[in-house]
Amino acid sequence: MNIGLLGCGVVGGGILDFCAGREDLTVTKVLVRRPRPDLGALAVTDIADIVNDEAIGIVAEVMGGLHPAYEYICAAMKAGKHVVTANKAVISAYYPELTGLARECGVSLRCTAAVGGGIPWLTNLERCKRLDSICELGGIMNGTTNFIMDAMHASPVSFPEILKQAQELGYAEADPSADIDGDDVRRKLTISANIAFDALVQEEDIPMFGIRTVTDGDIRAFKAHGFVCKLLATAKAAEGGVCAFIEPTLVDSHDLEAAVPKNFNLITYCGEKVGRHSFFGQGAGRYPTAFNAVEDCLDIVAGKPGFYTQAMKPAPVLCGGEAHPYY
Ligand code: NDP
Ligand code: HSE
Repeated sequence: MNIGLLGCGVVGGGILDFCAGREDLTVTKVLVRRPRPDLGALAVTDIADIVNDEAIGIVAEVMGGLHPAYEYICAAMKAGKHVVTANKAVISAYYPELTGLARECGVSLRCTAAVGGGIPWLTNLERCKRLDSICELGGIMNGTTNFIMDAMHASPVSFPEILKQAQELGYAEADPSADIDGDDVRRKLTISANIAFDALVQEEDIPMFGIRTVTDGDIRAFKAHGFVCKLLATAKAAEGGVCAFIEPTLVDSHDLEAAVPKNFNLITYCGEKVGRHSFFGQGAGRYPTAFNAVEDCLDIVAGKPGFYTQAMKPAPVLCGGEAHPYY
């Protein structure tokens, strides 16, 4: 299967590396917006070169942002191409439009890399739904903020310095305030809740509070009382809607979440019958994220059908509920 790659930064470079030398997946064109001599003849600057290329079966979008990513994904699906994306911003904001268009066009839209980096979280959420009802989900869903909180717990550090490290390691979003203030987690929680509950949650309805105001002094006081501070996301099926929120949360130093290091994520769903399943792994970075994107491409080659949600019912966000509810 030939792939048209949209964007070749941290994640796009990883996709190229994973596909190099494979016979089942070949990147034949890469959309760029400035000269990239390293890409040689692969580089194109006009999306039409990819959308109108009948030999391309999958478009992999890893440019980020809402526009023109949304328009390019729509154009690719209308041209009969399957789409794989790591772009949680566009999936979260246009969830019903994009999943609806994929169904209408009879193509697969897969976005496993959009939540949890290299963790096969969405694919397992989808599998759980075949047998059980998911009642709640959440956990640590952002690598950058976990990296920062982990470093702050280990020793007093300067916030800008540790954020710079996360950026250099390729973990942070183009605008890192999306990580720090919780928007990135909110997008991931919206996508996860929509899939888990067959719901239509609007991301802007979910209350969020990021880690910007957590200080070294706070961390010292939490540690003295046996607590570790983590940015946690929670979504729960509720009567008439979904209860969802994101906030820095104190977890007991013996809890699983307390031990999550560096850029790792720990994401959990709770099925009514199966109980708690937790997924742990690198939640950000070039190869973990590219891994999930290429796995999605392989699933498409293997004939795995489209996106996850079958039916969507509007789900108002009802706030409240208990923080850290999996136990
Ligand atoms: P980067 O900024 O490293 O890469 C994005 C690339 O897309 C850049 O090379 C940029 O080009 C290119 N680009 C942007 N807009 C256009 C356009 N209109 N036309 C052509 N090329 C364009 O981002 P990442 O690779 O880190 O992230 C990509 C996506 O993956 C985002 O949606 C992000 O949220 C998601 N993601 C990232 C993870 C990570 O750990 N990094 C993890 C999970 C998801 P230029 O160089 O010209 O700016
Ligand atoms: N900026 C995101 C994070 C990338 O740090 O988790 C992975 O989605």
